[in-house]
Amino acid sequence: MSNQPWWQTTVVYQIYPRSFQDTTGNGIGDLPGITSRLDYLADILGVGAIWISPFYKSPMADFGYDVADYTSVDPMFGTMNDFDELLEGVHRRGMKLIIDWVPNHSSTEHPWFIESRSSRDNPKRDWYTWRDPKPDGSPPNNWISAFSGPAWNLDEETGQYYLCTFTKEQADLNWRNPEVQEAMFEDLRFWLDRGVDGIRIDVAHFIMKDPQLRDNPRRATKAKSITRDHGEYDMYEHLYDKGHPDNHVVHRDVRALLDSYQPERFSVGEIHIADLEEWSSYYGDLDELHFPFNFSLMYAPWTAAGIGEKVNAAEEVVPPGGWPSYVLGNHDEPRIATRFGEEQMPLAAMLLLTLRGQPTLYYGDEIAIPQRYIPSAEQQDPHGQKLEEAGRDGCRTPMQWDDSFQAGFSPPGADAPWLPLSDDWAGRNVARQLDDPQSLLNLYRALLAYRKSSPALQAGDYRQIEAPEGCLAYQRDNLTVALNFTDGDIELSLAGEVGVTTYLDDAATPGRLRPHEGLIIET
Ligand code: GLC
Repeated sequence: MSNQPWWQTTVVYQIYPRSFQDTTGNGIGDLPGITSRLDYLADILGVGAIWISPFYKSPMADFGYDVADYTSVDPMFGTMNDFDELLEGVHRRGMKLIIDWVPNHSSTEHPWFIESRSSRDNPKRDWYTWRDPKPDGSPPNNWISAFSGPAWNLDEETGQYYLCTFTKEQADLNWRNPEVQEAMFEDLRFWLDRGVDGIRIDVAHFIMKDPQLRDNPRRATKAKSITRDHGEYDMYEHLYDKGHPDNHVVHRDVRALLDSYQPERFSVGEIHIADLEEWSSYYGDLDELHFPFNFSLMYAPWTAAGIGEKVNAAEEVVPPGGWPSYVLGNHDEPRIATRFGEEQMPLAAMLLLTLRGQPTLYYGDEIAIPQRYIPSAEQQDPHGQKLEEAGRDGCRTPMQWDDSFQAGFSPPGADAPWLPLSDDWAGRNVARQLDDPQSLLNLYRALLAYRKSSPALQAGDYRQIEAPEGCLAYQRDNLTVALNFTDGDIELSLAGEVGVTTYLDDAATPGRLRPHEGLIIET
């Protein structure tokens, strides 16, 4: 176990910085807020790394995923000094810090784009993708934005369209121009030199596009998205605007850059590709991403058979020596407490923390914060404004710490939080759940502590074993994990000692699973 790199044994906790802890009273979370909660993360919860969604200077058209300066901290989130204090606090507690890297696009307020837009012959014109309109004035091809509408925006001044796969305030960088790669790598080195331990690469399979910008074929029927519905976007076969083979060249270069650092730096890529063979190609020959995020459990049927099948499929395609990863929730998808149902949350916790690979846990899921319904007209999320059901505000509501003013998210007397708290915050918060020995939070703590001291969970093989219908059971070396996805009892023929029960009581036995019970059995 001790020879494993840290990124294999560590559980990562994702923080959406606007929503974690506000220290200034403006209703928006900030970096000092995260620093003030490090004891919670390290000692109370017991995670080993945090990933922070973007905190760089940004006009916030996509809440930070529109970066106007890759080597800065937006004043809304604090200062560079605040960042250094956060990093120091993370390291002092033996944790790791992963930051978000957004290479596919910059904000249209980035100085590079401002120059690029200024004239057709500006030296930075080619840093982005500019094309003439079609003769009828329409966009250069049929690509559409992941947030709906054309993926092109016309610049009236210079009479050309620029490519923007997300909002029109996010212009796609042209990675076929070597100067772009050089500039982006220089900015990445800025953070690696400062000591960050890893990067989460935003839309890592979008970076390189078809050089001829060919039209995507339209599908006869809508594709089934592996995550939430993307409306019109799912009506196209995305042959030319994402998943281009040249992405692998970029990822090999990124890996070489990361590998030039000591101690080891790590990368995880956001790769939404339903075809698992293609998805796993982003491991390369273990010379590209350390691993791609695996989103396949997010919308799998929440049954023993449905989940078992997805795990086996992922285990099969991860290359030898490669490391799996699992995610159930993040800042783009409806909250798991609402997606799976609250009674399934203990089972989801045990599943996530006992599979082989790196689990990533989304802030607030440890107390089962539910999805908050926010109508389209009130959504701040650019995607939600266009397509209500795709809206992401509902999974980004403020963290619920206690039952004091604004759930302890903001200091007393602060402005209203940037998004409303979930309705149930007074009864559902960290303080309340710490007091309840059988709360979900205490289950997460027990599972995280168990995992930390278990070589089998950190490094052991995964092997699914026979189990009665409704039960998913697998072995991790000397441990057996048995999960009951049904609301009835299930008899088991297992022997051994109960290591953890999701009921957190003394009544568990390896011979029987109670409704929705999960067990770790030491055999
Ligand atoms: C990724 C992010 C999402 C963002 C998009 C564009 O999918 O997770 O929040 O809107 O990229 O940067």
